[in-house]
Amino acid sequence: MTDSIPAQSRAHEIAIESLLAEDRTFPPPAAFAAQANVQDPAIYERAAADLEGFWAEEAATLDWFKPWDRVLDWEPPFAKWFEGGQLNVSVNCLDRHVAAGKGERVAFYWEGEPGDRRVLTYADLLAEVCRCANALRELGVGRGDRVAIYMPMIPEMPIAMLACTRIGAPHTVVFGGFSAEALSDRLNDSAAKVVVTADGGFRRGKPSGLKVNVDAALATAPSVEKVLVARRTGQDVTMAEGRDVWWDDLVARQAATSEPERMESEDMLYLLYTSGTTAKPKGILHTTAGYLLGVATTHRYVFDVKPDDVYWCAADAGWVTGHSYIVYGPLANGTTGVLYEGTPDFPDPGRWWEIVARYGVTILYTAPTAIRAHMKWGPRHADAHDLSSLRLLGSVGEPINPEAWIWYHRHIGGERCPIVDTWWQTETGGIMIAPLPGLTTTKPGSATRPFPGVEADVVDERGEPVPPGEGGYLVLKKPWPAMLRGIYGDPERYASTYWSRYPGMYFPGDGARRDTDGDYWLMGRVDDVMNVSGHRLSTTEIESALVSDERVAEAAVVGRPDDLTGEAIFAFVIAKGDIETSEALGQELRQHVAARIGPIARPKTVMFTPDLPKTRSGKIMRRLLRDIAADRPLGDTTTLADAAVVDTIRDASRAGKDEE
Ligand code: WT7
Repeated sequence: MTDSIPAQSRAHEIAIESLLAEDRTFPPPAAFAAQANVQDPAIYERAAADLEGFWAEEAATLDWFKPWDRVLDWEPPFAKWFEGGQLNVSVNCLDRHVAAGKGERVAFYWEGEPGDRRVLTYADLLAEVCRCANALRELGVGRGDRVAIYMPMIPEMPIAMLACTRIGAPHTVVFGGFSAEALSDRLNDSAAKVVVTADGGFRRGKPSGLKVNVDAALATAPSVEKVLVARRTGQDVTMAEGRDVWWDDLVARQAATSEPERMESEDMLYLLYTSGTTAKPKGILHTTAGYLLGVATTHRYVFDVKPDDVYWCAADAGWVTGHSYIVYGPLANGTTGVLYEGTPDFPDPGRWWEIVARYGVTILYTAPTAIRAHMKWGPRHADAHDLSSLRLLGSVGEPINPEAWIWYHRHIGGERCPIVDTWWQTETGGIMIAPLPGLTTTKPGSATRPFPGVEADVVDERGEPVPPGEGGYLVLKKPWPAMLRGIYGDPERYASTYWSRYPGMYFPGDGARRDTDGDYWLMGRVDDVMNVSGHRLSTTEIESALVSDERVAEAAVVGRPDDLTGEAIFAFVIAKGDIETSEALGQELRQHVAARIGPIARPKTVMFTPDLPKTRSGKIMRRLLRDIAADRPLGDTTTLADAAVVDTIRDASRAGKDEE
C-alpha cells in the first residue's frame, strides 16, 4: 500500500484506459460443480441482502467460549465484529478437531529443502503448540505481549504462531529473508518482548544464518528480553547467557496440555508489517474473531476444501498468504496441508511436481511469479511427474497474465482443474475477489466476482462508478470481518491511507475494470499507471501482451520521462530459456504489443534482462525499474530479494540504446 495519492487528473478524463480484450471463458466442469461446497448462486443475494446475518451464520461454525452480543459495530472507518464474544484461535484450529475424533488426521506434511520430512497429525500439533505455549509463558510472555517470529519454514514456525494465539500474545512474523535492520525496525515498532527464531535455514542447499541477524537486531531493540532458538541447520551460534534459550531445552520438557486464554473477539491477534514500496513499514493490525471467520470461510468456499483434500499453499508463512491460507484458514477447517521449506528449483525445477505427486496434492495455491518461472523452465519438469491428483489451482499476489493462466491450466491442471485467481491484500486479511469454483465461469486474467458480502466498485477520480469496460480505481464499500482494524500505533495514518480518498469507501490502491458480465480485471497498482500522451495506461495489460508472445517468460513495463509524450513506455523483458535475444526480437515484440492492444501501448524501448528486481514475496519493484529506465540513482532497496539484480540490469541498460 501507499500513503501518497497520485496526482489528480481532470475530472472528465478516463481514470485508466483499458486496452486488453480477453474473451476465453471456462465454465466450471460439471463434475466439479456437482460436488462443490457452494452450489447455490443465491449465496450472493443472501449475503448482499443481510450482511450481518450471513456472517453470523458462518460464525456459528466456530467454537465460542461465549457467544457474541452484536455482529457488527461500524463507525467508519472503525469496525468491531462479534463484540461480547470470547474464543481462542488455537482451540478452533486444533482442540476442537481432536475432540471430534480427528486427532489422527494429518495437519501438515512437512518437507525440508534438503529432503528431510516430518508428518504432524492434529494431535501432534496440539501437543507441540501447548508445549510451546507453556514455554512462552515460562519466558514471561503474558496476554497482550508481542512476540516476534523470525524463522525458516519449519513446523516450529506455525507451532510458535499458534502458541501465541493460545496465550493471547499477538505475534508479528518477520519474513526470514529480511535483514537485521528490517527485523530491528519491526521489533521496535511492535515493542516485542520475545523473539522466536532458529539457528538458520536452508536456501538453495546452503545454510544461511538467522540467529546471527537476531543478535545484530537486538543491539538496537531494547524491548526484547528473551530469545527462543530452534535448531535447524546445526550451524554455530552465539547464545547470550540469561537471554537466549534453546527450543530443545525449554519446549521439550513442557507439559503437552495448556490452558487457552479466553480472548475477546476484538483482541489483537497479530501484526504483520507490509513490505515493499514505502519507507516506514506499516504494522497491519488484525483481530481475533473476524479474522479467523474471514479466512476460514473464504478458504472453505474459494478452495472448495474437503476433509480428504491435500492442500498446498506454496507461500512462506511469513507473508499474509501464509498466515491466512497455510495456518489459520486451513487449520480452522481441519485441512491436511503441505509445508515446504525451500525454493521451487532446488535441486531442480521438478521439485514442486515431485512434492505434488508424493503427497497426492489436490489443491495448489501459488503466485503468478512462480508460474512464470515454471514457464521459463519449461513444461517438461511438470510433465515428468504424475499431477493427476490435482483438482483445483489458485493464484495470488499480482494480476495473472492470461498466458500464464493458460499455461497453468494446461500444464499443471491438465485442463481439468478450475483456477481461482484470488485478489486480496495484507490489509483485507482474506480473499475479497475470486471465483467460487463450482459456480463461476472463469476468464484468464480476471479475479471474477467479489466474495459474498463484499461490495466492490470501480470508480473515477470523483468516486463515481465508471461504465463497464472502462478502467478506474477499485473500492470496497462495506466492512468485512477480516478487515484490518488499523495501523499499529497510528490511527490517523490508517484513516488517511485507506479511507480518505473516497469518504466512506476503502481504497486499496489498485486499478481495475469491470466487464459487461460484472467480472473484475485487476490492472495493477495505481502508482504504476503511466501517462503517455495524455493516456493513462496500466502496466498489467502491456505486460500481459508481451507475455502472450511465446518467446517471453516475464515482462515489466514502466514509464520513463519523455519530452514529447510525457512518459514513454519502457519494457524490461525476460526471454524464455532457449530464446536468443536480439534487436530484431525487440522490434517484433513492440509490434506485437501494438497489434495486440493498440499503437498507443507500443513500448518505445524493449530491453532484455536476465532478471527483474522483486520483493521477497515476488512483486516486481517497478519503482526501481523506473529509476533504471530514467538512469537516476536508485531509491530504497532494502526490501529487494536480490540486490545484485539491479546492477546487472543497470549495466545492460546503459550499454543498450533506444529501439525507435
Ligand atoms: C496487493 C496486495 C494477497 C496476499 C499476497 C499479497 C496485488 C494480490 C492479486 C490478484 C491482481 C493482486 C494487489 C494488492 N494482488 N492478489 N489476484 N490479482 N493483483 O499481499 O503484499 O499485501 O499485496 O497485491 O496489487 O493490492 P500484499
